[in-house]
Amino acid sequence: MSLFEHHMLKEIMEQPAVLAALVERSKGLLEGDGGGLFSGEGASCERILFLACGTSYHASLAGKWMIEALAGLPCQVEYAHEYRMSARLPLEHCLAVGLSQSGETRDSLEAMQKAREAGARTLAICNVENSTATRLAHAAFLLGAGPEKAIASTKVFAAQFAAVFLLALHLGVVRGRLPREWLEKHLQAFAALPDKMRQVLEEGGFVQEMALALREAGHLLVIGKGPAYPIALEGALKLKETAYLHAEGFAGGEFRHGPMALVEPRIPSLMLMPSLPQEGFELMKGTLGEIRRSGGPLWVLTQKPLEPGEGMRVHTLPEADLFLSPLLFVAPLQLLAYRLACGRGLNVDSPRALCKAVTSDPQGSL
Ligand code: M6R
Repeated sequence: MSLFEHHMLKEIMEQPAVLAALVERSKGLLEGDGGGLFSGEGASCERILFLACGTSYHASLAGKWMIEALAGLPCQVEYAHEYRMSARLPLEHCLAVGLSQSGETRDSLEAMQKAREAGARTLAICNVENSTATRLAHAAFLLGAGPEKAIASTKVFAAQFAAVFLLALHLGVVRGRLPREWLEKHLQAFAALPDKMRQVLEEGGFVQEMALALREAGHLLVIGKGPAYPIALEGALKLKETAYLHAEGFAGGEFRHGPMALVEPRIPSLMLMPSLPQEGFELMKGTLGEIRRSGGPLWVLTQKPLEPGEGMRVHTLPEADLFLSPLLFVAPLQLLAYRLACGRGLNVDSPRALCKAVTSDPQGSL
């Protein structure tokens, strides 16, 4: 099979088009009724609860960051499988958002059902039309990313990320928290995103170099702060499931509370440094300095200029709205997972022991 026949690569490269289609739909938010994007959902709720698994969970974490900042609503994100087993608490005045590519993930469906029975209004955000999740929820938003065939989710993550950004804007508007000029500003930034994503996908040199350097690696520490934290988790998941590399994602501030002890000359790290406000960026630079002093090989993706230094490779990404920047960081990580998996001769589209939708619980018998 040639490289271009791999669904994963094709789907990674489709991301600018997937985003462009959502940019078109986002114009509806400028209309009085919100253009039917999310109808009136969330206008009177007091909190948001995301329920999801895997990649969809990571997009939900991004959603929490955006909804709290743009709509001022408290937001909770739960792994659907953990929520299923948790204490049954009332959920009045809560909008429970089930995020799922397939709309058929057993844990997510059970969790949404439980949230609905506890009094929440439910919204499904899915890629598959007429999936069980869309029928179970009070309302649904379809991502429209087209079929995703590779087991590792890539273009749907981009669509989910964009959808929760639009949901955050919508909630900001219907709750009177987001003035029109700010809505327009965010939508303009969103409209510029597909081209920036295309640019990032075309700059393959850094990824290629990193994939070669990591060919024999057994571990990778991926560190991101604020909006880049969900991306650190998502990048690590892509590397695990497609390249079988033990990669772990960490929150920037958490790294010094234990994980730093792992760093030594055989353990490589990758730092994701979006254009955070100065204080956050300086904190990340501090962590970066500590990793370098511990002698671990270091790779850095940054949006602000950073001097390259010994033992450290730096690649600069285009600037973007802080809320949207994470998507520019995820693209190189997806490509890295893909290149590394190909270099290791693995079946990138269908990794061992995984399936596209986890529709049943594990069997109990040994
Ligand atoms: O279809 P869903 O979004 O509900 O699936 C959730 C996870 O099983 C899924 O995201 C999984 O983690 C993917 N293999 C990630 O690439």
